[in-house]
Order: sequence, then C-alpha cells, then structure tokens
Amino acid sequence: MNKVAIYPGSFDPITSGHVDILERFSSLFSKIYVVVGNSSKKSYLFDLEERKKLAQTAISHLKHIEVVSHDGLTVEIANQLEANFILRGIRSGSDFEYEKNMANMNQRLAPNIETVLVYSRAELGMISSSLIKEVASLGGSLKGLVPINVEEALIKKLR
Ligand code: COA
Repeated sequence: MNKVAIYPGSFDPITSGHVDILERFSSLFSKIYVVVGNSSKKSYLFDLEERKKLAQTAISHLKHIEVVSHDGLTVEIANQLEANFILRGIRSGSDFEYEKNMANMNQRLAPNIETVLVYSRAELGMISSSLIKEVASLGGSLKGLVPINVEEALIKKLR
C-alpha cells in the first residue's frame, strides 16, 4: 500500500517545530504533501502564496515532500492527492482536544482517511506561529525557532 500523507496547517509562517515533525516522521510515508491552507478563524500576515514559498524553501532539504496550497476542506485536497493519512503534531494537552475534534470531523467527512498524531520535540513545544510573529515584531531573537529564510522574511515584513 502506498502510504501518502498530507501535513495540513496555516503555516503563517512555517516554524522549526513544523520542520522537525517533517524531518522525524517523513520516513513513515512514501510521500507527504505539506498543505498550506486557510482557517476561517484566522487572519494572516503572509498570503497563501507567500506561506507556500516560505515552506518550500524551508523543507527543500527533505526528500519525497511537496508543498501545495489549498483553500477549502482539508479532506477534499487529501482525496485529490490520493492521500490516506493526515499527519498532525501535538505540543500540549490543549492541542490534543483541538486535534481530537478535527480528527473526528475529518473522519466523518472522509472515512477512508486516518489522522496520525505525533508529539513535538519537547524543546520546540512552546513555538507557535503567533508567538514567533510577536517576538519578531518586538525585535527578539528567532535563532533556532524558525528556518533562516523565514527569519529573513519576518524581518522584511515587520520592519
Ligand atoms: N510546531 C510549532 N507550532 C506548531 C506545530 C509544531 N509542530 N504544530 C502546530 N503549530 C502551531 C501553528 O503554528 C499554529 O500557531 P498559531 O495558532 O499561533 O498560528 C497552531 O499551532 C495551529 O495551527 P495549524 O496547525 O496551522 O492549524 P490551524 O488551526 O491554523 O488549522 C487548517 C489550519 C488549515 C489545518 C484547518 O483550519 C483546516 O483544516 N482548514 C480547512 C477547512 C476544513 O477542512 N475544516 C474542517 C476541519 S475539521
């Protein structure tokens, strides 16, 4: 069986936490599509195309991973890409509840697709894209928190 996964998220912007998940778990799958999507609950600093380009550069060292963008249901793009898994990372207990609800809803919408939850590395568990943007806007160091291309893009965008 071909094990194709999507790794969906807003990626506004992609962080070292996201890259770490891809580095550690990509070997579980024959192919992973990073799906840069939109959440109706969020407003974004980077537009969809910018977020996609930042992710592409950040993961260019990884094999059998491709970045796509999608505005619509996550299960819809999973089916289009013939993916049978949705990969998601968990950083804390509060992530768990949120992920459980998303996994259950996605399972209802597409019973053929399973969600795979994995744990973030402890030292990266405090990263979120919002915190990164806050630190960047106040001139704090982003060393180790985001890929270098993302750090440059944040400095350019926020100054
Ligand atoms: N390391 C660091 N940060 C991480 C992380 C990790 N491993 N995993 C998640 N995060 C952070 C993200 O940076 C983000 O931070 P922010 O809230 O400060 O921006 C936060 O965790 C959660 O973001 P994300 O994983 O991108 O999820 P999201 O809630 O923005 O959802 C979609 C994005 C696109 C996956 C979701 O809205 C979706 O599926 N939308 C499509 C519509 C749909 O299908 N809806 C039904 C879903 S059941």
